[in-house]
Amino acid sequence: MPNIAYVNGRWGHLASASVSVEDRGFQFGDGVYELIRTYHGTVFHLQEHIKRLYESLKQIEISIKETPLRLEQIVQSGVKKSGHSETKIYIQVTRGAAPRLHSFPKGVRPTLVMTFRKLDPLSPKIFNKGVAIISVEDIRWGLCNVKSLNLLPNLLAREHALRSGAFEAIFVRDRFVWEGAGSNLFAVFGKKVVTPPVGHYLLSGITREVVLALGKKMGLKMSEAKISLAALYRADEVFLTGTTVEVLPVIRLNEKQIGDGRSGTMTARLYEAFQNEVS
Ligand code: PDD
Repeated sequence: MPNIAYVNGRWGHLASASVSVEDRGFQFGDGVYELIRTYHGTVFHLQEHIKRLYESLKQIEISIKETPLRLEQIVQSGVKKSGHSETKIYIQVTRGAAPRLHSFPKGVRPTLVMTFRKLDPLSPKIFNKGVAIISVEDIRWGLCNVKSLNLLPNLLAREHALRSGAFEAIFVRDRFVWEGAGSNLFAVFGKKVVTPPVGHYLLSGITREVVLALGKKMGLKMSEAKISLAALYRADEVFLTGTTVEVLPVIRLNEKQIGDGRSGTMTARLYEAFQNEVS
């Protein structure tokens, strides 16, 4: 089955899809994106992802003619057309193609791109074993709630983590941990499950919201509060959430063991609840 792309109304094979070299996404990173996946062919929380896309667009002052409903329809037809058993859906909107000037171009149509690829899930082994993370200084800008194309700090952080033998890097700003390069962060202290609060320093993850709601439904003590790096070392359990990592246990932080160095029971309960939700 083909990997396909939608570019401003045109469908085609991903390999032959293209946009202008003057696209502001290419030249300035002037745009935003969403990454969504299917479970058993059903798009996971599509409305929430589209809603977040519009929130990101609003923050960077791009307006598109397509309605949220229209975007949902394009996503659904892309999933159908590509015919994968599970699909990884990427949506990108940029301010459009125009001669390179910092000022916003007038009368230019934003570029809307969607790609539909076969999803390669993480190996189940990784969920049993858990992963190592490192902390890095958060050198990102002040609007981390916007799912911006400007991912250089995230890319550098992730690469640094991989080179240190870790899976993910966690951003630290003013002594507090906020989120990973491509995931949100949770920590368990006794019976309390804590995740840093939404605001300008993290992306409000769709998976994060789902896990918070599931935990509450299960009667767990879920809360949103700042977590210092020092406190994170003392957590009983740590886990990451995100479209690609789902609910992923963390067993080491900067070479130090978290809890007893194994995936914890609270994490396992939330992982199971999440898997039930998507099965
Ligand atoms: N990233 N925080 C950051 C910085 C992210 O990039 C992501 C997801 C998340 C988790 O959000 P969600 O649960 O909605 O996937 C948190 C995607 C997967 C990416 O950039 O590929």
